[in-house]
Amino acid sequence: MKTKAAVLYKYGQPLVVEEVELDEPKAGEVLVKIGAAGICRSDRHFMHGHAHIRLPAVLGHEGAGTVEKVGPGVTLCKPGDQVVLSFVPACGRCQSCLEGRSNICDTHMATGPNMMDGTCRLHKGSQYINHMGKVACFAEYAVVPDTGCVPIKTPIPMDKAAMIGCCVPTGVGAALFSAKVRAGSTVAVVGCGGVGLNVIMGAKLANAGKIIAVDILEGQLEFAMKFGATHMVNAADRDPVEQVKEITGGQGADYTFEVFGSAETVKTAYEMCRKSGTVTVVGIAPIGAEAGINAVDLVRNEKTLRGCYYGSAHSRVDMPMLVELYLSGKLPLDDLVVRHYSLDQVNEAYDDMDRGEVGRGAIVFQ
Ligand code: APR
Ligand code: ZN
Repeated sequence: MKTKAAVLYKYGQPLVVEEVELDEPKAGEVLVKIGAAGICRSDRHFMHGHAHIRLPAVLGHEGAGTVEKVGPGVTLCKPGDQVVLSFVPACGRCQSCLEGRSNICDTHMATGPNMMDGTCRLHKGSQYINHMGKVACFAEYAVVPDTGCVPIKTPIPMDKAAMIGCCVPTGVGAALFSAKVRAGSTVAVVGCGGVGLNVIMGAKLANAGKIIAVDILEGQLEFAMKFGATHMVNAADRDPVEQVKEITGGQGADYTFEVFGSAETVKTAYEMCRKSGTVTVVGIAPIGAEAGINAVDLVRNEKTLRGCYYGSAHSRVDMPMLVELYLSGKLPLDDLVVRHYSLDQVNEAYDDMDRGEVGRGAIVFQ
């Protein structure tokens, strides 16, 4: 079939919205009519060439839609189901999956932007086109592995469902599943965009005491207060480490999160973490970035520094739980998605993100 999609042909150039060909779903695969796709910074990293993907590629990894058709042997979902798309469809058989870390599935990582069998369903004539995260939801239709389709029992608006595909599990999961924030503890979040706001929501769900939002834009900081932040630190005004220490009686925060993606902000998050605290790095820094950490301080102050991919979440278990949290009013996703675009406006949507517009944008499909 033909489908309209946003294709990245070359780093540093805008996405090209055009018709491409999409093959039928093979065994274990599903054809999904996309309902909405989120505007996440991870796609931007690829557009800038700060992260690499085989090109050309259809981007978009934060999505939700409706199952249109299933390939042979699919039992996990059926036509008509509303599904959240996972950009780490786990194989369930590799070492990582067996160790309970389906968010870093080895088979998925090895096959990258191709289906689990290593081939593409997207092409333009004889030119194959890669699928970002095996999702490629900046398109009207997508073929995805069945384990990457997570059905939602009670339908929710598509733009909110899309958020549960990336920024919600990534952010809320970092706080709840990776750092395991304790009630009453102090949290600092460096970078309060779509993902950072979800870390803040996660910290609030964990009943953290002080939740300190750190950003370089005043608008983002004020917006973060709506989601549970109790204090604002503008890193553009004055050293954010000093400011966080002032708010925490000179100690630093129990849990700090890096949610922008740079060596500098990793260092900032590390330095504002207190003795015996935990630093969780969520943002993806440009390829080759190395953060300078004080090696002596790490040991003497017994800090924990860890990376967290996709919120250390198990998509098939945790995404339905996050939908329940939204339905019960505990995850204010209605306040998070503030801008809507058509697929044709995808480059404009990323320009808005670069300008520092608050909250999350989403492409909605008819
Ligand atoms: N200090 C603090 N905040 C900063 C700094 C800095 N030096 N530089 C940028 N920021 C803020 C931006 O102002 C913005 O509010 O970081 C925020 C990043 O938010 P978004 O651009 O919305 O990015 P988001 O989609 O949330 O992704 C954040 O998580 O999953 C990863 O790949 C993703 O690396 C990206 C990160
Ligand atoms: Zn994302």
